[in-house]
Amino acid sequence: MEKVGIGIVGSRFQADCIAASVKMMPDEAEVVAVASPTRANAESFARRHGIPAFYADYRELLRDPRVEMIHISAPNYVHARITIDAARAGKHVVCEKPLCMTLEEADEMLDACAKAGVLLMYAEELFFAPKYVKAKQMADEGAFGRIHLVKQGEKHSGPHADWFWDVKQSGGGALMDLGCHGIAFCWWFLGKPKVKSVYSQLSTQVHADRTEGDDEAITIIEFEDDAVGIIENSWNRPGGMDDSIEVFGEKGQTYADMLMGNALPTYSEVGFGYAVEKASSTRGWTYPVFEEHWNYGFPQEMRHFARCVRGKETPIADGETGRVVMEVLYAAYASAGLGRKVPMPFRPQGVVRPIDLWKNPPRA
Ligand SMILES: NC(=O)c1ccc[n+]([C@@H]2O[C@H](COP(=O)([O-])OP(=O)(O)OC[C@H]3O[C@@H](n4cnc5c(N)ncnc54)[C@H](O)[C@@H]3O)[C@@H](O)[C@H]2O)c1
Repeated sequence: MEKVGIGIVGSRFQADCIAASVKMMPDEAEVVAVASPTRANAESFARRHGIPAFYADYRELLRDPRVEMIHISAPNYVHARITIDAARAGKHVVCEKPLCMTLEEADEMLDACAKAGVLLMYAEELFFAPKYVKAKQMADEGAFGRIHLVKQGEKHSGPHADWFWDVKQSGGGALMDLGCHGIAFCWWFLGKPKVKSVYSQLSTQVHADRTEGDDEAITIIEFEDDAVGIIENSWNRPGGMDDSIEVFGEKGQTYADMLMGNALPTYSEVGFGYAVEKASSTRGWTYPVFEEHWNYGFPQEMRHFARCVRGKETPIADGETGRVVMEVLYAAYASAGLGRKVPMPFRPQGVVRPIDLWKNPPRA
């Protein structure tokens, strides 16, 4: 069977990661087109990755018959529009995290894809990160007995592009940007149980001059079986990306540090090319990671999604996953505004951005 033709929307950070990752596992898929608003950027991206077609308007990419599945690596506020247009054009969709800006958008995206008979897949690579997959396999075998606590943290020095800092385009701060990974992770790791309540403590500690968003976030999720998820996020940790998990059960525990734990403790007085995402320096002691995309699970994720398009696998991260995460994000922002935990389900109407629930919490 032919390889699945992928069209990438966006030509910067995540688009580069996805194009490189598809090449690492080339048996099921290939990138056949890219679209990005600045034509020259689309062109240079296509040249860099050996992609045959490039467009300035993603709607042109949606008309390209070679494209069967798109990957949306554009800012959060355009995820819903692009997904709905892609569904109407009959293309399967892989949408980057967070799924969108509001629960209404999430519903429209799921609805449009269901009506068009295309897959909506949610790009949560932590479900594919080899170290985390090993932890889940052991947990599912019963290695830790009943698990009562799962922790996930993602922290770095702050996003690389301006739009992340503008809550009108991103929908929120570190919680929305990084916490979406932890929410999905804890939920998936524990077997996708119902969420009972959410508590979050948010603050803007360092970057109030740059964003209205939160740059520090601690979130506690209570699941229906009484297990707890704790998620820690920060945009204020210089020294490179930090992504790690801890799992605790009645019969054991496991710890995994995705990046530093897979790195070479290195000392250099003069520095070198690259250590790890968001590291501002390579001088002195650093932790250069190898096979970075592989350790995150991006190639494995894209292979899985391509196999889903061919009906060989069923998506383990789909639109529903993204919607669960959105609802927890809503509750977390509202909790921080209200100063108490928020019981689920939680579905206030007419929210424009999740972060508004922190700034102007709904009345009880
Ligand atoms: N899974 C992960 O770990 C991960 C990592 C980084 C980013 N992301 C997500 O990927 C998405 C993109 O983030 P990024 O870091 O690549 O941002 P970026 O700013 O580096 O790149 C965004 C790209 O989208 C393009 N774009 C902007 N507006 C557009 C529009 N209206 N239509 C089409 N393209 C448009 C830009 O020109 C640019 O090429 C975000 O949703 C982000 O949250 C996920």
